[in-house]
Amino acid sequence: MSHMDIVQITDLHFGASVDSLLAGINPVDSFISVLEAIDLGGRGDNLLLLSGDLSGECSPQSYKILNQILKEQKKDVIWLPGNHDDVELMANHLVDFPRQRVNDVGDWSIITLDSAQLGTPVGHINDNELMLLSELLDQVKGRPVLFSMHHCPIALDCPWLDKQKINNPEKLYQLLTSFDNVKAVVTGHVHQQYDGFWGQLPLFTAPSSCIQFKRYSQQFAISNQKPGYRWFSLESTGLLSTGVEFLTDFNQSPDTASEGY
Ligand SMILES: [Fe+2]
Repeated sequence: MSHMDIVQITDLHFGASVDSLLAGINPVDSFISVLEAIDLGGRGDNLLLLSGDLSGECSPQSYKILNQILKEQKKDVIWLPGNHDDVELMANHLVDFPRQRVNDVGDWSIITLDSAQLGTPVGHINDNELMLLSELLDQVKGRPVLFSMHHCPIALDCPWLDKQKINNPEKLYQLLTSFDNVKAVVTGHVHQQYDGFWGQLPLFTAPSSCIQFKRYSQQFAISNQKPGYRWFSLESTGLLSTGVEFLTDFNQSPDTASEGY
C-alpha cells in the first residue's frame, strides 16, 4: 500500500528581522529548530503545509526571510494565509513558492482556502472562496481530499480564542459534506493540538512553530509548551494517520506573563 507523507507547520509569526521576538521566543530560531526536528524524525523530504500566520505582522521582510530559508533547505511547500498575513505580500515575496489552491499529492488532493478577513482575527468564509472551493472539489471528485484553512470552525473550550472561530461555518460544512471524499479538515490559528471532529468531518489542528496558547483558558494566556508540528501519512486507500511532535531540546522559553501577541 503506497502512502504520501506531509508535515504541517503553522503560525510561524515571523517578524521583520531574524532577531524579532514574539513573547520571548525568536520565531525564526524556533522554525529552524522545528525543521531540524522534522529532519531528525526522518520527515525532512516531506511536503510542508504552512497553514497561515507565516508572518506575525505582514512585513515584506518576514516573507523574504521565510522564502530564503525554505529555498536554502530545498523544501516543497503549500501555504495559505492567516489573519496576521497579507496575501498579496505573500504572493509577491514568497517568490519561489507560488500559491496553489489545489495540489495533487500522490493519490490525494490538498485544497486550501482563505478564512481570514481584514482587520479582525475572527474567521469568515466569503462567497468567492466558497464558490472556488465548490469548483475545486468538483475537479478532484473521487480523489481523497485533505482540506486546509487557517481558522478553526469549532470551539475548543478556550473562551477568548473560541470568539475567533469561523463565524459562518454552515455553508462550508454543507459543501464539504456534500462530497464523500473529504477525509480531513486541517487548521492552524489555535496554537494548540486538537484531534476530533467537526460534525462528521475529522478535524485536526496543530501547535505553533513558536508559542502555544494555554488550553481551556478563559483569557489570553501562553503556555510553557515547546514549539511543535503535525505529521500526516496519507494512504492511497483514503485512510490517514497523524500525530503531533513537540521539540524537546529548544532552550528559549516563552514569556507566559505576556498579555497579547
Ligand atoms: Fe491566526
